[in-house]
Amino acid sequence: MSATANIGVIGLAVMGSNLARNLASREGNSVAIFNRSYDKTTALVDSHPEANFIAAETIDEFVDSLKSPKTAIIMVQAGAGTDAVIELLKERFSKGDIIVDGGNALFTDTIRREKEVAALGINFVGAGISGGEEGALLGPSIMPGGTKEAYKTLGPILETIAANVDGEPCVTHIGADGAGHFVKMIHNGIEYADMQLIAEAYDLLRKAGDFSPNEIAEIFEEWNRGELESYLIEITAEVLKQTDAKTGQPLVDVILDQAGSKGTGVWTVQSALDLGTPVSGIAEAVFARSLSAQAAQRAGKPELPAHAQTWSVEDKPAFIEAVRRALYASKIVAYAQGFDAIRAGAKEHNWEINLGEVARIWRGGCIIRAQFLNRITEAYQKNENLLSLLFAEYFVSAIDGTLASWREIVAMGALTGTPTPAFASSLSYYDGLRAERLPAALVQGQRDFFGAHTYKRVDAEGSFHTLWSGDRSEIQTS
Ligand code: 6PG
Repeated sequence: MSATANIGVIGLAVMGSNLARNLASREGNSVAIFNRSYDKTTALVDSHPEANFIAAETIDEFVDSLKSPKTAIIMVQAGAGTDAVIELLKERFSKGDIIVDGGNALFTDTIRREKEVAALGINFVGAGISGGEEGALLGPSIMPGGTKEAYKTLGPILETIAANVDGEPCVTHIGADGAGHFVKMIHNGIEYADMQLIAEAYDLLRKAGDFSPNEIAEIFEEWNRGELESYLIEITAEVLKQTDAKTGQPLVDVILDQAGSKGTGVWTVQSALDLGTPVSGIAEAVFARSLSAQAAQRAGKPELPAHAQTWSVEDKPAFIEAVRRALYASKIVAYAQGFDAIRAGAKEHNWEINLGEVARIWRGGCIIRAQFLNRITEAYQKNENLLSLLFAEYFVSAIDGTLASWREIVAMGALTGTPTPAFASSLSYYDGLRAERLPAALVQGQRDFFGAHTYKRVDAEGSFHTLWSGDRSEIQTS
């Protein structure tokens, strides 16, 4: 088979097929395709005769059809499936060729794989690809890691298929080795927080506001015309408008209230814990899914006391606006924490990640695409070293305009027994960041009392320990 393809895709499930179709639809691309079961390959070719695919029946045909530097995107299940395909390509690729993992791999796996493949002189690029099946076809946001060298070849190809906002493709070289998959993981963590916050707003509007799913859909459609404009708000309105054909009920009322998770949100929280950077909004979103999935516990609960007040909403427009403001403020916190986690990861793994660039490529194509990512892009472009997104002038002002409502909604949620874990934890995070003194001072005292772990003082350098079991005098330990 003559080597004419400038890019190849391995793994033709929906995401892989759509990505291959997207690539083939762009001027200048000639796309080699391969799937373990050849019938999937032929099915794709037959269903899209217009696409200039080069269909390979064997992995050798696939590799032979690629022109140098051979570049292949793996779109198979993360884990063992990806490792198996990497092995096949390692045996057939040469120095300077490029293996791209387009799945949701754990970034530490990508760091390992990149090292193994680089030993052979082959480039390995872990690329986060966000936007689901539709995004893969019409324009995803793409977060490739790997070497700058590899990006010289891969970047221009990815730019042909990425989403485009204001004439700029939603793709950039994120940073070395696992940086791309790390940033995709954080994207997914923010996605979890965003979805949980929207769900809490829905729950408040439903239970306290007594609005129907259809009415709440209209409220979300209205919100989508303002600063909350985003893909997730848009699809939420669509889900809430959906009627179940079988029962005639709102679909949301017949869906079992137990949330699933493929794991990227969990990875985000685990990584943030290791990095010592708080992602409380994301963590609450992950744990809210875990709580919802405690089927036996929830089914077996006794009549639990509530002592909850009734939330009688007199002024419904004011209530709707208060919920909107609480949602917006909590969302700002979730994104601020996500960007802090990216900065912490970059420091830990010696990646040079430009946060403004990350925000820029998230403006389109990805699941968290939103109008307010323009504001985040501007904030980091104005000051790349922002200590927190919450300290950017725009967001200080945005929070200022929401705070009273945020406090009211969180307080009323607590008083009426409406769970708002992400709203409440985000407010507490904000107040913690704002506080002049934190009760961590007492925690240090406790730790020193039972573990002699020492503490610092506000008025002197060094570490100190109180002789709690002796005369309770203080000694300086360093
Ligand atoms: C994306 C999505 C996608 C994610 C699925 C499942 O960016 O296109 O984040 O990568 O894996 O939406 O996510 P969960 O099952 O973890 O909710």
